[in-house]
Amino acid sequence: MSKYWSPSIRDIEPYVPGEQPKGGSIIKLNTNENPYPPSPMVAETLRNFPIDQLKLYPDPDATELKQAIAEYHQISSAKVFVGNGSDEVLGLSFMAFFRQVWPILYPNHTYSFYPVYCNLFGIEYRTVPLNKDFSVNIEEYNTGNGGIVIANPNAPTGIAMPLSDIEKLLEFNRDSVVIIDEAYVDFGAESAVSLIDRYDNLLVVQTFSKSRSLAGLRVGFALGSEVLIDGLERVKNSFNSYPLDTLAIKATVAAIKDRDYFEQTRQAIIDSRQWLDEQLQQLGFEVLPSKTNFLFAKHSQRQGAELYQQLREQGLLVRYFNKPEIDQYLRITIGTQQEVEALVQALKALL
Ligand SMILES: Cc1ncc(COP(=O)(O)O)c(C=O)c1O
Repeated sequence: MSKYWSPSIRDIEPYVPGEQPKGGSIIKLNTNENPYPPSPMVAETLRNFPIDQLKLYPDPDATELKQAIAEYHQISSAKVFVGNGSDEVLGLSFMAFFRQVWPILYPNHTYSFYPVYCNLFGIEYRTVPLNKDFSVNIEEYNTGNGGIVIANPNAPTGIAMPLSDIEKLLEFNRDSVVIIDEAYVDFGAESAVSLIDRYDNLLVVQTFSKSRSLAGLRVGFALGSEVLIDGLERVKNSFNSYPLDTLAIKATVAAIKDRDYFEQTRQAIIDSRQWLDEQLQQLGFEVLPSKTNFLFAKHSQRQGAELYQQLREQGLLVRYFNKPEIDQYLRITIGTQQEVEALVQALKALL
């Protein structure tokens, strides 16, 4: 606390990202990064980039990137917004749409950045309990609200909602903006992008951090009706005209174009997920059904906190949340097959 801080930031509680250890021989399965490198086309684009271009400001509209995203999703580029990671896109969306009279709604266990944005922007919120099996209780969202945000698949549970449930949610809530945060959708869930033309209150947010292995480049985007995209552009252009640098724009376009590499790497992750899921169950874990690049699992006899610590001592970093109802679970990112095999070996020795 300092007398120099604006009153509005005195009580905020910033988001704490997962640990990024410096050096050492750590197997890092804690922040849902992709274990495979970005597409070789990204490397080639960066190698051949004319450095001289960096003396100029980037394209404030990131036109080339918006067009590549629009083409991939078969949507008009007027329905695409891009930002510095989906965290920024989500933050700008909260600012643009959620400062309403009614509180916004989201599940009680979900991405822990949502309350942080609410506190920062002075947005009222109410959390809606997940069902006992950790699925989203759709009926509970059929009530007055200032907006809804749902991660699909959800984090940290990994559970996906069917498209029919998202459509129900949109039908219930014609007068407020519904954000579907699809950070992990490429690992097996149904995307809501197909509903955008029918619901002008739907904003789908995605990222290049997970399925495209570009977490370090910081590129995210939103797809939605032109009214929503215009709202986002208004906020972005009142804060930072150039959230994406020229290298990020070029490299991401290259990643989008390499469809074969994308398919190969995401399939490798899905295969390792299935293998790890089976192994964990054989070791006495209960594993939630995941459509993401991570598994959320608890052991029938061992404490989550203790297992987390013991794995850590052996150089295996997973994520642990000390929060009621989920404090027995470990969130384990799917690494390479070799990495998940090392995890299973370590667990066999510990259990
Ligand atoms: C549900 C969810 N949404 C959004 C993000 C943010 O991703 P990024 O800012 O890297 O695009 C994450 C990151 O872990 C996430 O888990």
